Amino acid sequence: MRKYLVGGNWKCNGNMAFAKSFPAEVLNNLKFNPSKVDVVVAPTALHIPTVQGVVGNNVQVATQNLSLTGDGAYTGELSTHMITDMGIKWTLTGHSERRTLFGESDADVAKKTKIALDAGMGVLACIGELKEEREGGITKQVNERQLNAIREQCDDWSNIVIAYEPVWAIGTGLTATPEIAQETHAEIREWLGKNVSKEAAASVRILYGGSVSDANAADLIQKEDIDAFLVGGASL
Ligand code: 13P
Repeated sequence: MRKYLVGGNWKCNGNMAFAKSFPAEVLNNLKFNPSKVDVVVAPTALHIPTVQGVVGNNVQVATQNLSLTGDGAYTGELSTHMITDMGIKWTLTGHSERRTLFGESDADVAKKTKIALDAGMGVLACIGELKEEREGGITKQVNERQLNAIREQCDDWSNIVIAYEPVWAIGTGLTATPEIAQETHAEIREWLGKNVSKEAAASVRILYGGSVSDANAADLIQKEDIDAFLVGGASL
């Protein structure tokens, strides 16, 4: 049985008041069994120390991104050395907003995933197709292209969680139906079995993301290959 993981991606939202009050008033009052569910929130890097100072041990903190560089003359960057030094054990990589708005290539995402794994971090590696790619019937190829890039860099998938986030469902209110999400999750699991290992296919968690809310989570989680969610708007 794979342990569920629920992630909250705050994206570029929040302020100091929120970073203090939300963990205190909401996250610390969540009722869940931490042996059955990992809960991970990804505030902006600026707000992480504030969240860490308030949130209880049952909720873990992630960065939304990390740098391809190490420490040094790299203005504006955030090295894994600094991230892990802050006690942060998780990061997102390859979010579609990083890919589409900030030009991250499949190879960049794969390298970042490798850098984070090498630093001992857990990675929520995001993949997913654009609307026109789904409409063009190439969802499987797109996801596999993104997964293959990571596979080229990373042998050990035990600290990778895949977040399947169809881009057309992000922030649009258009959630994939449980059937559509399950179909793609099953394809991803099959890819893991063929390209990583049978163990990885059985154990790697595959999260669904894209307009998840209290209105649809209960139906989505019924599906065999959906190991919970990466939530944007509703996590705030
Ligand atoms: P929404 O839940 O706002 O659609 O965002 C999903 C997402 O991008 C999580 O990473």
